[in-house]
Amino acid sequence: MKVIPTINEIKTLVRAAREEGKTVGLVPTMGALHEGHASLIRRSVAENDITVVSVFVNPTQFNDKNDLTNYPRTLEADCALIESIGGTYVFAPTVEEVYPEPDTRSFSYPPIDTVMEGACRPGHFNGVCQIVSKLFMMVEPDRAYFGEKDFQQIAVIRAMMKDQRFNFELVPCPIVREASGLALSSRNTLLADNEREIAVNISRTLIGSQAYALSHSVNETTEWVVNTLNAIDGLDVEYYEIVDAITLQKVTSWDEAEHIQGCITVFCGEKPIRLIDNINYK
Ligand code: PAF
Repeated sequence: MKVIPTINEIKTLVRAAREEGKTVGLVPTMGALHEGHASLIRRSVAENDITVVSVFVNPTQFNDKNDLTNYPRTLEADCALIESIGGTYVFAPTVEEVYPEPDTRSFSYPPIDTVMEGACRPGHFNGVCQIVSKLFMMVEPDRAYFGEKDFQQIAVIRAMMKDQRFNFELVPCPIVREASGLALSSRNTLLADNEREIAVNISRTLIGSQAYALSHSVNETTEWVVNTLNAIDGLDVEYYEIVDAITLQKVTSWDEAEHIQGCITVFCGEKPIRLIDNINYK
């Protein structure tokens, strides 16, 4: 496993591998890796000859300066984990390397990117598309791996891939949860022990809502989730939307779409830490 800080070097290495007929998997990350990322890397290692893991805290997708400053950075531990599970290259560039000049490209895929995270974090998905499209152009992978915890991000990246004609496979990978049910997230490291215990209620309530939904309407289920979580000290729901899993638009009845997903963002604790999760209803 080798750590590569420059675009030229990663391009050269990947090209050489491709000339030898090797397939390339890309796992884009912002570091602070956990078992969720490990599952993406393992899958890429199993499905490709070489795996590039990018570790880059992308400033253009943060609409809150404090969030960017406080984002956990653990490159040494990340490299050890990537090496232990067979990643080939860690692409870890500086901000100057990736953005020698401000990226003025603008990506917009309404209505998929205007709801939920798009509405709450203006500019966020534009920044995600800027960095992901750059990584795609640098690495030109055969497959790219993304976690389903960021359910809307996957839909936006799919739209960007279609728009920009990236013709390779996006591989969505299931959410990895702690034994408690809490969805793994780099942000979990920012939670105090008591906040982590409180945060467990998010997945518990979402899982409970699957049973509740069997005998209640979409509106009743939405209200039940929001009220249950807001009644817990230390939790504050930013949004809970039950949506068509493809268009990400709200549904009003359970038979309105073939696949239905509930997507949530909750503020947890004192600082507070913003946590996201989602659950499938059908
Ligand atoms: O999901 C993430 O960690 C980031 O949004 C991504 C895809 C690595 C882009 O910075």
